[in-house]
Amino acid sequence: MDRLDKILVSQGVGSRRDVQKLIRQNAVTLDGKTVAKPDFKLDPEHHEIGVNGQALVFKKNIYIMMNKPQGVVCAAKDNLSKTVLDLVPEKLRRRNLAPAGRLDKDTVGLLILTDDGDFAHRIISPKNHVYKRYYAELDGAVTDETVHSFESGVRLSDGTVCMPARLEKAGESGAYVEICEGKFHQVKRMFSACGLSVLYLKRLSIGGLELDRKLSEGECRELTKNERCVIFIGK
Ligand code: URA
Repeated sequence: MDRLDKILVSQGVGSRRDVQKLIRQNAVTLDGKTVAKPDFKLDPEHHEIGVNGQALVFKKNIYIMMNKPQGVVCAAKDNLSKTVLDLVPEKLRRRNLAPAGRLDKDTVGLLILTDDGDFAHRIISPKNHVYKRYYAELDGAVTDETVHSFESGVRLSDGTVCMPARLEKAGESGAYVEICEGKFHQVKRMFSACGLSVLYLKRLSIGGLELDRKLSEGECRELTKNERCVIFIGK
C-alpha cells in the first residue's frame, strides 16, 4: 500500500506538486471513481488508476538502456560533473534509479539503469556469470601471452586475482574483452597488469543484450521484457 500521490510521481505523471494538483482537480480516478485525497492509500497492482480519463499502465519497476557518453559519472549526485541520471528524461527518473554495474567517467557504451535491486544484483553478481563485453583501444599490441594471462586470471598490482576472462585481438592495438566481475577499473587494471594502457573503452553488451545501435551517445530508452530476459541467456 502506498500513497496515491507517491504512486503517480513514481509512474512519471509529474512532480509531487503537479500530481497533488491533478488529484485536487478531480482528474484522477480509482476504479472509475474520483479520489480527491493525495494521501489515499492503495495497492496499485489491484486497482485501475485513471489520469485525465486515460488508464495508467502501472509499472512496478523501470529498466533503462543508456548509451553512456564520456565525461558523465555513474553516481546519483556529483558536485562537479553531470551524472547519468541527469541524462534520463524526467518522466523515467524514478526514486532509487541506479546503474546495474558502473562505468568509469571516460568509458562509453551500454549502461542499464533500474530501480529493481534484485535484477541489478543478478546482473552484477560474478556468481551468475553474466559476461560484460568491451571494446578497448590500447597503447600497444595484445600478445598471445596477454590472451593467456586473461584466460587464466590476471593478477592485479594489489595482488587480487581476477576470474578468467575472454580476450580477442582486434587490429593492431585493439581488443574485445569479456569479464563477469565488476571490480573498480577492472579492465584498465587488467591491461595495466599486462603492461598496456587503455586509451578508449566501450561496453558493447551485457550477457545476451547488445547496445542498441540506434541509440546515440547520451540517449536512453526503456528495455523490452524480451531484452530483460535475453541478458541472462547466451551470457
Ligand atoms: N573496467 C574499467 O576499467 N572501466 C569501466 O568503466 C568498466 C570496466
